[in-house]
Amino acid sequence: MNYFAHITGWGTSVPANIMTNADLAKIVETNDEWIRSRTGIAQRHIAEEGQSSASLGAEAALKALKVANISPHDVDLIVVSTSSPEHLFPSTASLIQDRIGATRAGAFDLSAACTGFIIAVNIVAQSIRSGAIHTALVIGTETLSRLVDWEDRSTCILFGDGAGAFVLQASQEPGGVLSAVMRSDGSGGDLLTVPAGGSKLPTSYQTVKDKQHFIQMNGREVFRFATRVMAQATEDVVKKANFTLDDVDWVVPHQANQRIIETAAKRLKLPLERFVINLERYGNTSTASIPLAAVEAITDGRIQPGDRIVFVGFGAGLTWGALLAQWTGPLPVEKPKMWPYRLHGLYRLYVKLRSWGLRIVRLIEGVVWGRQD
Ligand code: COA
Repeated sequence: MNYFAHITGWGTSVPANIMTNADLAKIVETNDEWIRSRTGIAQRHIAEEGQSSASLGAEAALKALKVANISPHDVDLIVVSTSSPEHLFPSTASLIQDRIGATRAGAFDLSAACTGFIIAVNIVAQSIRSGAIHTALVIGTETLSRLVDWEDRSTCILFGDGAGAFVLQASQEPGGVLSAVMRSDGSGGDLLTVPAGGSKLPTSYQTVKDKQHFIQMNGREVFRFATRVMAQATEDVVKKANFTLDDVDWVVPHQANQRIIETAAKRLKLPLERFVINLERYGNTSTASIPLAAVEAITDGRIQPGDRIVFVGFGAGLTWGALLAQWTGPLPVEKPKMWPYRLHGLYRLYVKLRSWGLRIVRLIEGVVWGRQD
């Protein structure tokens, strides 16, 4: 049987707390005019205490499931793309699986920085097309504010927090994800990095003192790289599906910098009006930026079922890639599964109790069975 992978649900979650350029100017030597003219960013959302990549990602995921009209129990796989995971392990995907009560789902994290969402959607689409899975959640979630050096004006002005999620489902109707390109050049790994905290530079007094747990970036080099690869990846992905740029209705680019997007648009000879851009209000939310922009354009009616959309991203690694999709919208369902959402508060209580129940069972089992040695 031939399956196609359709994007049938979407949701976002951003912290309510907003930091404007004027707020930043109170922390580092900068000003609104400089930030706007060099980046296009006016404000960003910053996670408050208690919010994290898992909590934002879970919110976005539940909204996406609601749009797709399916229950968390129907999800076969959860892939979370993030550069600011809750921990090195367990994966943020597993924590979100528990938070949303996706009892049947496998879960893993994918690390490809700002390109991650595109790669995750592509990998999941391949799994659906192969017939291995039917329904999946792809989540891009970031709390990069926790990795930013708030004394470094060249990076702290850029990033923001947020999450976006897509539901992908199998259908025999043609459409959905049409083609993708995925690229990497690790020789540029040092251009955008959080150097310490991994196996190469484990956490030590010195790494903390040297601020090596924060984002370090060569802005000019990243800028040059981004403008070069964005146009190229867009052209490649369209060609791979045997279309031309004229067949594309929308380009949803990674929201890093207004000037990068404008340069790519010029190179592609596409009017800027065909690009979905919302970085002015969110800053660079890394892997969450593409779904955050896409969902905004779906919600305000710009993106319509049947539209062909190129998602294109770039980031640390270096990584870059693009994905061409024909927009679907929710698949028809025989019987809407609205119960978890109608009983929103109760459902949340249920998943919390379920999680604690499992922990208590594990505790009791440990006492009953004792040590294994
Ligand atoms: N406010 C005011 N001045 C600032 C500043 C800030 N926030 N940050 C840097 N400056 C200063 C620099 O110190 C420098 O001053 P100098 O000329 O006296 O040395 C001057 O502004 C120019 O710095 P430069 O780094 O050349 O600026 P730029 O035009 O390259 O813009 C970036 C810097 C970071 C905005 C730009 O390089 C960029 O967007 N790069 C891509 C980054 C990116 O997208 N990363 C994420 C990829 S996923």
